Amino acid sequence: MPVKVLPPEIVSLIAAGEVIESPASVLKELLENALDAGADSINIDVKKAGKELIRINDNGSGMSEEDLQMSVLRHATSKITSYEDLHRLSSYGFRGEALYSVFAVSRLKISSWNGKSGAGTILTGEGGDLSGLKLSPAPPVKGSTVEICDLFFNTPVRMKFLKKDASLKASLIRVVEDFALARPQTSFAFKLDGREIFNFPGGRDAGAVLDFRVRKILAGKTSEKLIKLSSERDGIKFSALISDPVNLIASRTSQYTFVNGRSVENRILQQAVYKAYEHLRNGRHPAWIIFLETPGDRVDVNIHPQKREIKFSDENFVFEFVHRTVSEGLLKKQSPPSLSAGNTAPSSATQGAAVPDLDFVSEKSNNLSTYNQEDFLDHVYKNEDAPLWHNPPITFVGQLFDSLLLFQTRKSLLLVDQHAAVERIMFEKYAEDFNKNMIQVQALLLPVSVEMSPAQAENILRWKDWLKKAGFEINRSGPGAVTVYSTPSVFYFTPDALSDFLSYLSEILGNPDKVPEELKRDSIATLACKKSIKARDKITKDSALKIIEDLKDCADSLHCPHGRPTILELTLDELVRKFGRTSI
Ligand SMILES: Nc1ncnc2c1ncn2[C@@H]1O[C@H](COP(=O)(O)OP(=O)(O)OP(=O)(O)O)[C@@H](O)[C@H]1O
Ligand SMILES: [Mg+2]
Repeated sequence: MPVKVLPPEIVSLIAAGEVIESPASVLKELLENALDAGADSINIDVKKAGKELIRINDNGSGMSEEDLQMSVLRHATSKITSYEDLHRLSSYGFRGEALYSVFAVSRLKISSWNGKSGAGTILTGEGGDLSGLKLSPAPPVKGSTVEICDLFFNTPVRMKFLKKDASLKASLIRVVEDFALARPQTSFAFKLDGREIFNFPGGRDAGAVLDFRVRKILAGKTSEKLIKLSSERDGIKFSALISDPVNLIASRTSQYTFVNGRSVENRILQQAVYKAYEHLRNGRHPAWIIFLETPGDRVDVNIHPQKREIKFSDENFVFEFVHRTVSEGLLKKQSPPSLSAGNTAPSSATQGAAVPDLDFVSEKSNNLSTYNQEDFLDHVYKNEDAPLWHNPPITFVGQLFDSLLLFQTRKSLLLVDQHAAVERIMFEKYAEDFNKNMIQVQALLLPVSVEMSPAQAENILRWKDWLKKAGFEINRSGPGAVTVYSTPSVFYFTPDALSDFLSYLSEILGNPDKVPEELKRDSIATLACKKSIKARDKITKDSALKIIEDLKDCADSLHCPHGRPTILELTLDELVRKFGRTSI
């Protein structure tokens, strides 16, 4: 067959095939346009799962007659003028493809007035036929009403392959939910076959609006125990409402992810969050509403025909940042195990009991910003950084068996394993110093020489430079001997413990270049904490209070670095119940 350029009507159907996949894609594109036009009130009417009618009425800027005629042309857009604009986008749209594609596969009517001329304009047409477009006057009502009738009337195959009505309706509802969560300042009223699905007033108090919408959109219990998280690093802001690990659900459906206000599917974000729940899920799934705000030049929005996916320029950074924020947040918001019967320590797997395996290579190696979600999230969900058990005033009651500390808080009795708590505090202090490159080192009065096999000695000497950075200065002192000259000052080693520590390290260390920095640091810290000597003797009130305060500031205050619990709790409520009283 000879090579020929396709006629425009076929081009438009092919292009439409990519952009418009279902009634939900039409609804999404039209809502984007209404919001880009600055609407703060949007009414949506859908009939027969979107196959008969999708009507969006907005009070946005409206269009002049000329713009209205242009709007259905391919590549016609008012949103960007240069390629660089894509990196500082403050609109949902940028391609000038949506109306063109919708027009190609439907009967379309747009009524619009921009408030400037005496009357508005109605544009009608069908099947992408530009020559058949008609104009007529419209009443001067500010904004636009876009009506899409008989979707896919001219593409019977696409029509035939549409999903069942119930599933189409679910996707339509999901689209409205996405925008309602992303844009709390805007009111949305949504009817399906005349039945009201949502009526969300907008409002200045975006936090309260979001709260209301979250409760309506997430089914009852799911919306109750959401944990609020937020964090900012290197210009990227993350804020989220996310399930408490005790309140996970059976499916992934309640996961709403927004990047710069755009609802997206993104594997990196999803994996980062799932990794934080790794051992807590038991086959269940977290619900979440996640908002990530990033400078436009660090995300590519132009990688998917329906603008559903995006790509971060630095995926590793985003993964690491989100994973850390969520893991630390979840740990902070967990309750300690209860002291009362039936409640045992969490399984060691839950918190990574073992020294991390150094041969493991972390998985990670493989605007619309006219509003700010974080502000309003902060408004409603006050971010309390202290762990749940920390209910001041806290008083030190005493020490049991020379190793357990007893505290009274406003709401409970805490039993703290002194040894485990100090290990946790040392571990985090060390990790923090390490990250800041500020490890305090103490030279040993008598260097400790450790005998090992020549192979082990070779292995550990490959780590010499890195160990120095980690606060351990070592040198070869024979074919099978290594001498330690200094150690980090947070740890106290006896010569035997130091020798144990080094022999063990020599066995587990892999190739220093292949192991992520953080994993190396944690392995060293975990081991060092284990071997380091901790005071076991009588403790003063002040040092006990210092331990509990330092523990409060730990990212994971509930476990020692090996995964054993640091705190058991007996709440006042439990005591009241157990003693059969009504109060204490
Ligand atoms: N509801 C509306 N109110 C005001 N102007 C609108 C509306 N809908 C569309 N427009 C105008 O029509 C133009 C074309 O819309 P269309 O959705 O096809 O492209 P886009 O939004 O620019 O880009 P994209 O294809 O990525 O959505 C828009 O750039 C905008 O100027
Ligand atoms: Mg658009």
